[in-house]
Amino acid sequence: YLNYHVPRTRREILEVLIKGLHRLEYRGYDSAGVGIDGGNSKEWETNSKSIHLIKQTGKVKALDEEIHRQQDVDLDVEFDVHLGIAHTRWATHGAPSPVNSHPQRSDKNNEFIVIHNGIITNYKDLKKFLESKGYEFESETDTETIAKLVKYMYDNRESDAITFTTLVEQVTQQLEGAFVLVFKSLHYPGEAVGSRRGGPLLIGVRSDHKLSTDHIPILYRSSGKDKKSCNTLPRMDEDTCLFPVDEKAVEYYFASDASAVIEHTNRVIFLEDDDIAAVRDGRLSIHRIKRTAGDHPARAIQTLQMELQQIMKGNFSSFMQKEIFEQPESVVNTMRGRVNFENNTVILGGLKDHIKEIQRCRRLIMIACGTSYHAGVATRQVLEELTELPVMVELASDFLDRNTPVFRDDVCFFISQSGETADSLLALRYCKERGALTVGITNTVGSSISRETDCGVHINAGPEIGVASTKVGLVFLQKGDLIKEVLSLDEEIQKLAAELYKQKSVLIMGRGYHYATCLEGALKIKEITYMHSEGILAGELKHGPLALVDKLMPVIMIIMRDHTYNKCQNALQQVVARQGRPIVICDKEDNETINNSSRTIKVPHCLDCLQGILSVIPLQMLSFHLAVLRGYDVDCPRNLAKSVTVE
Ligand code: F6R
Repeated sequence: YLNYHVPRTRREILEVLIKGLHRLEYRGYDSAGVGIDGGNSKEWETNSKSIHLIKQTGKVKALDEEIHRQQDVDLDVEFDVHLGIAHTRWATHGAPSPVNSHPQRSDKNNEFIVIHNGIITNYKDLKKFLESKGYEFESETDTETIAKLVKYMYDNRESDAITFTTLVEQVTQQLEGAFVLVFKSLHYPGEAVGSRRGGPLLIGVRSDHKLSTDHIPILYRSSGKDKKSCNTLPRMDEDTCLFPVDEKAVEYYFASDASAVIEHTNRVIFLEDDDIAAVRDGRLSIHRIKRTAGDHPARAIQTLQMELQQIMKGNFSSFMQKEIFEQPESVVNTMRGRVNFENNTVILGGLKDHIKEIQRCRRLIMIACGTSYHAGVATRQVLEELTELPVMVELASDFLDRNTPVFRDDVCFFISQSGETADSLLALRYCKERGALTVGITNTVGSSISRETDCGVHINAGPEIGVASTKVGLVFLQKGDLIKEVLSLDEEIQKLAAELYKQKSVLIMGRGYHYATCLEGALKIKEITYMHSEGILAGELKHGPLALVDKLMPVIMIIMRDHTYNKCQNALQQVVARQGRPIVICDKEDNETINNSSRTIKVPHCLDCLQGILSVIPLQMLSFHLAVLRGYDVDCPRNLAKSVTVE
């Protein structure tokens, strides 16, 4: 967060940072930290020039408490210009601890500090090089090499006039892997430099005046050379050209996701890979090393439609619960403007220019991870039926591990709530390289997947904050009324949870359209209740999983009146014959199942291919209640993070 000619007290600056971190906490929450200008006296500008770091293990709340415990932080000092950076972490390299938290620093004086999302794959080589030059490391993180490397570039600069942007450019040229970075330095007070490769970074611009432009042209450097080793880096020219966004008071917010900035501004610029954005003297510039074919030579300042209230919990105890209960509205939003009930057509504007190509294709491949993969499994059958094409559903990581053959006449769909999942993004690039048409289905406007695919569909289901995903399945249902009816079962499901929450394991069985429901229900239970749970294809029961069934094992079965009904009844009998007492999620008018089962959860009937959207809701609610009863924070499941931007 950078304020320029907007006087702010340190208290206000910290509040902006901490609030922003709270909004992003769902991305990772094992530790957090801030880096702000130091100095305690009102004369800080003349005598201090220090950077103060405060870091803490645990959630953002713990960091906030630590800030208020610090005796030497004068919260009332006012700053005309101030850059503060903050980070909430999901550990990749090094356990959660203050020293491993970000910002990471270049040295004990905090000459350069940096925050980082992603993984630097060549950090060991860089570290070795820097250690050979006498730099001492204090953390186990890959990020610390970035902080040290920027200091190395600075210490070995050829000219005192070297700019912060140039230094960061030199650093990013040495980095391999994925990164989103924001730097702050004692040598460049009041300047912010950020860059990204393989992860999201946006800049919110807030000004009380009308912005003089809605585009920022890119500044290309002609002097860019190929990557060299650290000690033979090409020298960059002095940075002279900064683009004025606005002459007047401006505040800038660098963030990995719009929810962190939306309460300050809805005007944002999404950066592309390898953009280097810098704010100096209150002006923003975006640089790239060199122009390549297909580069767009400007970045648009977009106005987001997101409302603050969409990212607040309201009266709900958790985001997950709110997101479960807002499904009736979410489906309507997803279909708004797309369905014409008079002539029974659906028009997806984002696909219409590519429909011919899609019609000509030989195969459809849906690629995703986690819940989004389950959404693919859930839709495979209807796609096969409607298109009569072979449809593959692939887990992105496995798809890449197998070097799966992809052809020019394949159409590859990338399903992703966040639009930022690294595995899916890498698979997307893999398919693009092989000439396939790529289609994004995401819930995040401006996300990497939505920008890098040839065409796509935005789910428009509103922001998803709960780590446990609930929104990707929404794309195909038209009305919210039936969902409301299922949601009214909440109390009944809470009672069921009260009977089950001390169990170690839950098996969920179904087939056909509901196999995906089983997988998804089991994933939800695993990730937020930490109980073991397994989604089992009922057709496979007799080939192994039946051995798990006895009178103690909790079993949930999904039996709907579709073409698999009789086979599901067989599975039910097989379970009952082993003394199992399954809880059956069934059609509310299916008296046969209701009369033959000891326990049923009755849901309304809809089209077979859409029934899964209804049958999964009791499992979402069950996992929520189980987690609450077991005393866990449903929005922050341990070890997980939303938007997994690392491989
Ligand atoms: C489960 C969950 C994850 C995500 C997965 C893919 O509740 O949230 O399994 O579904 O990480 O994320 P997206 O859809 O953002 O690509």
